[in-house]
Amino acid sequence: MTEIDYSQYKTVPAVPEASSMIETFRAIGYNIETAIADIIDNSISANSKNIWVNFEWLGSKTWLSIKDDGFGMNDPELIQAMRPGSKNPLQDRESKDLGRFGLGLKTASFSQARKLTVISKKSDYNSVYWTWDLDFVNQTGKWELIKYRPDEKFEKDLSDLVSGTIVIWNDIDRVVKNFKQDDNKALDKFLLIMELVKKHLSMVFHKFMESGKINIYFQGHKIEPWNPFLLDEPSTQIFPEEKIQNGLVKIEGYVLPHKTKISEEKYKQAEGAKGWNEQQGFYIYRNERLLLAGDWLGLFRKEEHYKLTRIQIELPNTLDAEWQIDIKKSVARPPLIFRELIKAYAMKVRAQAVEVYRHKGKNVKPIVGQKFVPLWIDHKRGDKWFYKINREHPVIEKVKEEARNEPNKAIEMLIKFIEETIPTKSIFIKESEVPELQGKPFEGIDHEIIRNTMQAMYSNLIGQGKIDEQAKAIIANIEPFNNFVHFLEFLN
Ligand SMILES: Nc1ncnc2c1ncn2[C@@H]1O[C@H](COP(=O)(O)OP(=O)(O)OP(=O)(O)O)[C@@H](O)[C@H]1O
Ligand SMILES: [Mg+2]
Repeated sequence: MTEIDYSQYKTVPAVPEASSMIETFRAIGYNIETAIADIIDNSISANSKNIWVNFEWLGSKTWLSIKDDGFGMNDPELIQAMRPGSKNPLQDRESKDLGRFGLGLKTASFSQARKLTVISKKSDYNSVYWTWDLDFVNQTGKWELIKYRPDEKFEKDLSDLVSGTIVIWNDIDRVVKNFKQDDNKALDKFLLIMELVKKHLSMVFHKFMESGKINIYFQGHKIEPWNPFLLDEPSTQIFPEEKIQNGLVKIEGYVLPHKTKISEEKYKQAEGAKGWNEQQGFYIYRNERLLLAGDWLGLFRKEEHYKLTRIQIELPNTLDAEWQIDIKKSVARPPLIFRELIKAYAMKVRAQAVEVYRHKGKNVKPIVGQKFVPLWIDHKRGDKWFYKINREHPVIEKVKEEARNEPNKAIEMLIKFIEETIPTKSIFIKESEVPELQGKPFEGIDHEIIRNTMQAMYSNLIGQGKIDEQAKAIIANIEPFNNFVHFLEFLN
């Protein structure tokens, strides 16, 4: 509600002009891969199990369709779906819903094609259809759908299903404009583009395909998922997961195997659509749907020696606004206050990736699914950051064992490992970013260990002949007891 009372003012209608507005939709910046993925998002949100992407090469008359066996729409629902802005972006969405803006179907389709037809069938309903034609909108200047479908065959195709939807693109001018059907070079070009589409889909929806939730068929052939993290390779190193933003966002780093540790075929396959160097970086998922594949989010540059780093970030759709998810579902930006935490995590993974990249000759026999074992763990107590030694680390086990025979040697060994591995980089980043969130020694935990140690030292000093005042002065000058001078008065 606006606070100003406008009732006394004159108003004038300024309705968006249909023809120019609809042409503007074309400029959102999709390519054919991201546009088709956006249509498939809708199929997945509609509970589809199977999705079919089909096309027929007819030169400039080439058509492409995306069919699903989801719950479909009846006539009023389809008309609503065809409206630009059919849902309010501020509205809460079901957690599995991949949509947000109420625009994707239209903007993705118009970005590639001048004609969009949707035929849909809801269970117990007859199928219904409507078409947007950009040229017709341009001609009439009106936001009007046409009760038209390009060919009866599409409807027949749908009639085998209890329910489902088919999205058809015609006049795909962004791809096949002026192409002649008998031009083989044009055909090659077109098929090459379609190959990119297939690769993109196998990557973007790999989690859905892996879990068996959906099948995507491309010209009748089932698409195989492409997983960026080489989970079934024994040499893949998995970093411990970290959670940020109240546990809503999960980060998990992977260092992929050195070239010499996997088969040539696997190595080639793992490079993905853009190649090893380009595919390094963050992989951001929203409800299992990949938004961003291989992007350092402006935190680092892509460099050859980091190319084995791939880091998964998983988001729920409730954080869309904070992470600035865009209409195309191909952009995400972490909220400013989390950038440095993400950076600190990534630096650890990257550091390990450089090691793997350089030490190609390392002769170890790896095990599938084995996780990287850090010595230091950054963790939160309340809202403050602390660093702790991983008690499960093998070095700690070793120290304990050694302590039984040669305690001095064991202690020296422990100290040495601590001194040499202090996570200075991570501390520096956190300190410079949010100094007030750095924990102080023993902050927020029981101080018994401090009090007991102070008492023991005090007794020792008194035993050595020091007077009360001297003993306390000495202790007050010892780190970290200098922070606990208020305990001095209790020493006796
Ligand atoms: N394949 C489909 N099956 C069933 N309903 C669909 C299908 N495609 C679209 N719809 C309906 O049409 C609506 C509009 O789709 P559209 O892609 O334009 O926007 P959205 O998915 O809501 O949001 P976004 O702009 O983020 O994609 C959807 O919310 C859904 O209700
Ligand atoms: Mg959508």
